[in-house]
Amino acid sequence: MFNMAESTHPIINLQNVSVTFQSNGKPLNAVDKVDLQINRGDIYGIIGYSGAGKSTLVRTINLLQQPTAGTVTVSNQNLQALSESKLRAARKKIGMIFQHFNLLNSRTVLNNVEYPLLSQPIHKPQRQAKAKKLLELVGLQDFEYAYPDQLSGGQKQRVAIARALANDPDILISDEATSALDPKTTNDILKLLKDLNETLGLTIVLITHEMQVIKSVCRHVAVMDQGKIIERGDVAEVFSNPQQPLTQNFVDSSANVTEALAQIKADPGLQNLAKNERLLFLKFRGQATKQSLISDLTELYHLKANILFANIEKIGTASIGYLIIVLTGETRQLANGINLLNRNGVRVQLIASGKKEGVENDQATVS
Ligand SMILES: Nc1ncnc2c1ncn2[C@@H]1O[C@H](COP(=O)(O)OP(=O)(O)O)[C@@H](O)[C@H]1O
Ligand SMILES: [Mg+2]
Repeated sequence: MFNMAESTHPIINLQNVSVTFQSNGKPLNAVDKVDLQINRGDIYGIIGYSGAGKSTLVRTINLLQQPTAGTVTVSNQNLQALSESKLRAARKKIGMIFQHFNLLNSRTVLNNVEYPLLSQPIHKPQRQAKAKKLLELVGLQDFEYAYPDQLSGGQKQRVAIARALANDPDILISDEATSALDPKTTNDILKLLKDLNETLGLTIVLITHEMQVIKSVCRHVAVMDQGKIIERGDVAEVFSNPQQPLTQNFVDSSANVTEALAQIKADPGLQNLAKNERLLFLKFRGQATKQSLISDLTELYHLKANILFANIEKIGTASIGYLIIVLTGETRQLANGINLLNRNGVRVQLIASGKKEGVENDQATVS
């Protein structure tokens, strides 16, 4: 993941930036005192659920959104202090792509890519040559004279990327650019972005609500909630050891465990467990994934484990394991087994236990 192009010099420096909207007469802090430094050559992800303030935050980077407070510095220039013409020039060095491509449907692919160059003092042949070169860079050299309607979603996004690069930007902001694409096309586009980062030294700010996207291309990540950055750092470090429940949610849903838990909880068969059965959700990291804990349960305590769901999420060099099991056995041995798991660093959550007379309370041993 090491990239020669990345330096430790911030190309984007947001200091104490806030954006307050008036919403039904009440102030809404869409962005709330955010400090954000992004180094030149980095691929920096910003993840958060819808409404977290991600789009508003990145729109302050080119002042499409004026902050209510705080300072925006890009390439060592305080953008708020620039004259209108200098700001226009600075904005040209910040390209943007979106979920809905925003292409001009009445113009050819080539014309779409040429479009940002129309206001530039260059002649048509050079303009077209530049646009053609960019289309080649994104793999669309055979589609110059096609119209956007004739293209797939992935191809449309490639046109949008070529257009965003027309002015040789230093920074590319991608706001949910892959959210409307299927998983295979998403990977192709992310790979293209990574290539552009490496070959052009392009700094990429990538907004998404999907952890998979962050994991596959970003080096750093900030987790955003209610206008604030609640956690940030190296992608592998943040996601292998999440400090905030929201970050943990992203990790769980990336491992498909959130969906599996919901399905299992909704299964009526599992609502009627026998007295000697426990429905458990086990989460473990690192070392514990390598140990044969399940067979230990059988050997030591004669417990039977029926595995309903299993997955291991790899994050950098770390791995996080998930198991949903029905554990069956003697009451005392069930408690012993759960204790063994706890002692080995497995987080055990009791989802359901057999409801018959005199339900014993295992809560003391589970977290
Ligand atoms: N122009 C606006 N006027 C009023 N409220 C806005 C405006 N733009 C965004 N918001 C509100 O600000 C919050 C953050 O929005 P947004 O930045 O779009 O979040 P995200 O991109 O993370 O989904 C939301 O509550 C949204 O409704
Ligand atoms: Mg948004």
